[in-house]
Amino acid sequence: MSQNLANWPYPRWVAHRGAGKLAPENTMSAFRLGAAHGYRMFECDAKLSQDGVLFLLHDATLNRTTNAQGTGGDLSMGEIAQLDAGSWHSRAYAGEQLPTLEALARWCLANHLCLNVEIKPTPGQELETGRACGALMQRIWPKSIVQPLFTSFKPESLKGAMETAPHIPRGLLVDKFADGTGDADLKIATDLDCHALVLNHALWDAALVAKVHGAGLRCSSYTVNDEWAAQRLIDLGTDGIITDRVDLFSPAQTGAVL
Ligand code: G3P
Ligand code: CA
Repeated sequence: MSQNLANWPYPRWVAHRGAGKLAPENTMSAFRLGAAHGYRMFECDAKLSQDGVLFLLHDATLNRTTNAQGTGGDLSMGEIAQLDAGSWHSRAYAGEQLPTLEALARWCLANHLCLNVEIKPTPGQELETGRACGALMQRIWPKSIVQPLFTSFKPESLKGAMETAPHIPRGLLVDKFADGTGDADLKIATDLDCHALVLNHALWDAALVAKVHGAGLRCSSYTVNDEWAAQRLIDLGTDGIITDRVDLFSPAQTGAVL
């Protein structure tokens, strides 16, 4: 077993964007709700503000999930902190803020929770966003406890994180295979010394799981919201499941290693 395969201290179940669609994504209310459902690891989307602060936002623009329009990375963190990132979801969450990545990380540390940071750069900022994520975690996350997991669809972002925080595990996200087989993506992941390949769940089959495990990487999936799909991935022997359905899947009742 390779060093990377052995070094996988994460729970199987990961709450997507905090609590899926039950609360406004990437807000502290969402992470708190996911934790209330028993989740011990959280996925989030991180990008840089105009003044170099990492904050949480999935889309490149603010249009869908805030009361503002335009590219999120064009605003300073002071401006981002003024936005309403909850009203789009429901009245109960009106006034919810977009947190900094540091705020979420410190909350995870205080509550002994695991964190999966998806490095989601504003287009054109792939390398610098990865470097900033690595530098932040290098500064605030104690080496003595379970490290965050960095993931990205962008190899350049993983490369940046590797430059500034080589000790923090990485996973390559893939929605569609570059070559139809997964071999090219597996090569990218191994070249980046990744611990995991994190795929659109439909891409996994038994042969691919064997190949990826054989290459010394873990097999993880997004975004798994149906029981049949989760059971298929567990039966295949995969290692991680990212879900919106924190209300449907209970980590404590589904054999997750917590
Ligand atoms: O990190 C897994 C998943 O979140 C990737 O897709 O579009 O939901 O960020 P997306
Ligand atoms: Ca994501």
